[in-house]
Amino acid sequence: MDKLLIGGSKPLNGDIRISGAKNSALPILAATLLADEPVTIGNLPHLNDITTMIELLGRMGVELMIDEKMCVEVHANTIKHLTAPYELVKTMRASILVLGPMLAHFGEAEVSLPGGCAIGSRPVDLHIRGLEAMGADILVEGGYIKAKTNGRLKGAHIYMDTVTVTGTENLLMAATLADGKTVIENAAREPEVIDLAECLIAMGADIRGHGSSTIEINGVPRLHGCRYNVLPDRVETGTYLVAAAATRGRVRVKDTREDILEAVLLKLDEAGAHISTGPDWIELDMKGARPKAVSLRTAPYPAFPTDMQAQFVAMNTVAEGTGAIVETVFENRFMHVQELRRMGAKIKLEGNTAIVEGVESLTGAPVMATDLRASASLVIAGLVAEGDTLVDRIYHIDRGYECIEEKMQLLGAKIRRLPG
Ligand code: EPZ
Repeated sequence: MDKLLIGGSKPLNGDIRISGAKNSALPILAATLLADEPVTIGNLPHLNDITTMIELLGRMGVELMIDEKMCVEVHANTIKHLTAPYELVKTMRASILVLGPMLAHFGEAEVSLPGGCAIGSRPVDLHIRGLEAMGADILVEGGYIKAKTNGRLKGAHIYMDTVTVTGTENLLMAATLADGKTVIENAAREPEVIDLAECLIAMGADIRGHGSSTIEINGVPRLHGCRYNVLPDRVETGTYLVAAAATRGRVRVKDTREDILEAVLLKLDEAGAHISTGPDWIELDMKGARPKAVSLRTAPYPAFPTDMQAQFVAMNTVAEGTGAIVETVFENRFMHVQELRRMGAKIKLEGNTAIVEGVESLTGAPVMATDLRASASLVIAGLVAEGDTLVDRIYHIDRGYECIEEKMQLLGAKIRRLPG
């Protein structure tokens, strides 16, 4: 298993480009199953999760052409197997996103239950209940979701008990080809949901209200092809900005947008960062100062994103003062804490709150990545620690951060990959 060896306590300094958003690319690749003509998707990040989704579509008999810039052309009409097998779904839960489009376009779908993961039980009950409200017959047996519909799905008025990003996305996709109007109440408002809706509209879907908590979709008989580029990754953007703040450095991130991570920028401002922005870039400069501890509470967009929680815990470990970090979205998303403690961090866990008391510096140590964003927080901790940090199981990090060691090296970090 590959490891990352990180030499610490050096301020990051430099410019990097941000890749396309993983959590936008995944639903948009699934949405290509809805079209009767080829759909071309650009600005896809080179990530293991994207490769897994492409492999899943290929396994289903969908024809794909990929060019050297990871631009993918998908022909859904060649589909042969309406099944997403356990062996692929278990490696990437977001495979559940093929359920809605496959059912809506081809009338049936068999998708392995994704099961839980390190950060929580991650149920998909709201995906299933919404599709049943649209007239689907769904049987869950043998670890598979077996869904069928006689003719088109029917438009329905759906109330989501919990704000769920992929739940909203699955139902949004299914509703585009349903007969009649669908309203999704308490819908997720994330930028990636908006990006998916904009791509569906480019394919001929009739959608309004995306980005608000009430989305209205008038079903159409068919969707045509289009070319679409996914939006920049706001979590990758935030991760590099937090790394700059924690190391007291200066970093400019390019090919990104400031309007998709405002809650994060506000917290970095509170930490004492000097932030300037342009049409497609954000610059953070600590002017050599130690960050101030911040307190925050994660919640669905536009509140502070749960995907940035672990990175801020890492910054707080070396900040001035004490910060309280409350995680309200997932039930087990503090696994980075015990690893950070091994590096000398002072963190108390009280239920879903981490109380982090800043120390002058951490000490490098061998640590283990447990999930995608936890691994990012360990890399940040390694960058600020005295001595070397060896991060194991970095296959987690390769799922969500394109070329992380190259991008960090561009910023002056001492970091290299040790093949396992
Ligand atoms: C998406 O996961 C993201 N993944 C996650 O990013 C992100 O952390 C999460 O949204 C929250 O923002 C993708 O978009 C591919 P949820 P998702 O359904 O959709 C409960 C990363 O690091 N729930 O919004 O699976 C659930 O238990 C990943 O890039 C139900 O109860 O998350 C959780 O408590 C990690 N029933 C809450 O909703 C359901 O049917 C939010 O989960 C569905 C969800």
